Amino acid sequence: MPFFFQYVLKALLLLVVPLLAACDPVQSALHPGGPSAQAIASVWWVMFWGSLVILTLVMALALIALRATPAEKQYRPGRWFILGGGVLFPVVTLTVLLIYSFEIDYPLFRGESEPMNIEVTGHQWWWEVRYPGAGDAEVVTANEIHIPVGRTVRINVRSADVIHSFWVPRLGGKQDAIPGHENPLDLHADQPGTFRGQCAEFCGAQHAHMAFWVIAEPVERFDAWLARQSQPVSAPAGEAAASRGREHFLQVGCAECHRIRGTAAKGDTGPDLTHVASRRTLAAGTLPMTRENLARWISASQRIKPGNRMEDFSHLDDAVVRDLAAYLHSLE
Ligand code: CUA
Repeated sequence: MPFFFQYVLKALLLLVVPLLAACDPVQSALHPGGPSAQAIASVWWVMFWGSLVILTLVMALALIALRATPAEKQYRPGRWFILGGGVLFPVVTLTVLLIYSFEIDYPLFRGESEPMNIEVTGHQWWWEVRYPGAGDAEVVTANEIHIPVGRTVRINVRSADVIHSFWVPRLGGKQDAIPGHENPLDLHADQPGTFRGQCAEFCGAQHAHMAFWVIAEPVERFDAWLARQSQPVSAPAGEAAASRGREHFLQVGCAECHRIRGTAAKGDTGPDLTHVASRRTLAAGTLPMTRENLARWISASQRIKPGNRMEDFSHLDDAVVRDLAAYLHSLE
């Protein structure tokens, strides 16, 4: 009997893990922030309570069998018991669940006829985000997706290298990012909010540091954000450090990989940095966006996120790194 209870205890501990994981609502599929996620969460709850009832039933039967007296152990169940419990019950239960989940899932992929399109490309290990056809200039950003509340947004998911998976648990299901292929995923936020997303397919050493944020805001605020993002940067007005940083940026090699619209920096292998300081995080959710962290990232990116495609610029003087950070932090 103690042996049996050990298993029960382990099963209970395993149940506690998802419950604890759901405590933080920024990235919990159990705190839906829109209709798709709501539908997925309801399927999850039905499956959860259904399995719990069946598990309890099976455990109760197992307990009864274990506690049986030698005389009771002579009992042989009839054919109806084997067929009913072993064949009919699973077939009926699984068929009902299958039809139910199709009923819920199918509308999620039918989509709206004229959604707003956003192109999202997975890279090792960050997300490129493009808003096509917005204003004169195409808006390109990274690791942060702003969407208007109350409107369906179609995310066209792609990959530049290996298979990634785009997932914002509070807004919808997962969509694979496959090289050479485009997969759509419709997101819809009912309320303004900030939702964390995460790459959900192992894609190399820094897979865990491939997060992003989705910021759902009222239409007017979204439009203002998009208009601001579509502007190229002008020469830094304030600090002298920022002006020096701008020169360094073009000279020490940053511009080979990064683009800053409005300057001669036109690299396209790394994230577009035109309005980098307006983002919440640095290096795909790895560090909060601060001037100090920008400096740390420039001089020690390989220590912070080993294996990422940006080399350490540890050979630069501290003063140069500080100027670069001052410049990048001015790009709001
Ligand atoms: Cu990209 Cu995991």
